[in-house]
Amino acid sequence: MSKHILLIIGGGIAAYKSSELIRLIRKSGMTVRCVLTESGAQFVTPMTLAALSENEVHTTLWSLKDEAEMGHIQLSREADLVVVCPATANLLAKMAGGIADDLATTLLLATDTPVMAVPAMNVRMWTHAATQRNIKQLAEDGILVMQPDEGAMACGEFGPGRLPEPEAILAEITRHLENGTGAASLVGENELGSNPLDGQPAFAPDAHRPLRGKHVLITAGPTHEPIDPVRYIANRSSGRQGFAIAAAAAEAGAQVTLIAGPVHLTTPAGVMRVDVETAREMEKAVHEALPADVAIMVAAVADWRADSQSGQKIKKKGAAPAPLKLTENPDILAGLAQHQQRPGLLIGFAAETEKIAEHAKAKLAKKGCDWIVANDVSGDVMGGTDNSVHIMTRSGSEIWEKLPKPEVARRLVAKISEEIS
Ligand code: C5P
Repeated sequence: MSKHILLIIGGGIAAYKSSELIRLIRKSGMTVRCVLTESGAQFVTPMTLAALSENEVHTTLWSLKDEAEMGHIQLSREADLVVVCPATANLLAKMAGGIADDLATTLLLATDTPVMAVPAMNVRMWTHAATQRNIKQLAEDGILVMQPDEGAMACGEFGPGRLPEPEAILAEITRHLENGTGAASLVGENELGSNPLDGQPAFAPDAHRPLRGKHVLITAGPTHEPIDPVRYIANRSSGRQGFAIAAAAAEAGAQVTLIAGPVHLTTPAGVMRVDVETAREMEKAVHEALPADVAIMVAAVADWRADSQSGQKIKKKGAAPAPLKLTENPDILAGLAQHQQRPGLLIGFAAETEKIAEHAKAKLAKKGCDWIVANDVSGDVMGGTDNSVHIMTRSGSEIWEKLPKPEVARRLVAKISEEIS
């Protein structure tokens, strides 16, 4: 029997793409009935949707005719899948909070059918802590939330938040209907415990999200090692490369934990961030985040810290400078290589100013990791926007000439996906 989709269209510029989605759904042999929110009707008309779906379009809770013919609860229950597309920040917030103040949100609260939300919004709205909180809640509630695409947006900004292409949305719909892996049916498959993947829907790997179901642990940025209440030892790391890798891994469907030293960067969408200051705090956070399938240690961890931290600001005393005694910090990467819960794929970064390949090879052996991504930091790589890297693995090496850091990140994530798939 042909499957039936209830499509709820929220109010965003991406609503125009729902027309194409309806066309594709019907072309694939399924039927579709549309519910248009009040704000959605500012972008597409009920007439367009009715013509494309060849079904009546529902817009209000207060239609006596609809209630007489088909109650609004029935509307949601006769579907095999409810698809909210575009799911605006407002709709997601209402869904996460269980608010039912119009036809769309009432149906969403009343349905016992699996629900899939396809978010689309401005990048800042998507990365806002409130939206990310809501997404997490919805995933916990068993709603399948598609990752938005990244790119230029209608509002002129750039980043994650774009509605995925209708073909990709249809592929996701079909996959869930065929595999019977509607998100709601997956709730409770994992019992809550210490595994960071617990409570996440068990997704099957696919071409768009090759790291789906994998936990990727990343460190990024510098560490600050206090000397006294106002001074610290630091380095020029901006955290950009590590954050770009976290973004690329999340985009590839991974569950990402990003342990960040002090940096001025916004958290990439869908990434769980833990802020730390010192190497020892970073080491503790890394261990607490285990187990992980992949760990990528991008942070420029300070090799040394002050042997003792003065409780008061150190004062100048006469002509001689105050002595600064240093002690070595733990090597987080080498420690992880020896850890009982060593991630299956352990990757280190190496900032070098000379003999890059030679030093990278030596570091691979010394640290006990699987790959070393070495970069020449003699130029403006630290804190800059580009990077050129040597990837040293146990079976060989490759060189990626100067590339923007997000591109290095995407290629690295593609290489990781290939390795662990
Ligand atoms: O020895 P070096 O600092 O060049 O090694 C760099 C690699 O080791 C990076 O992956 C970095 O994150 C990691 N590292 C670490 N803990 C340290 C020093 C470096 O995890 N104390």
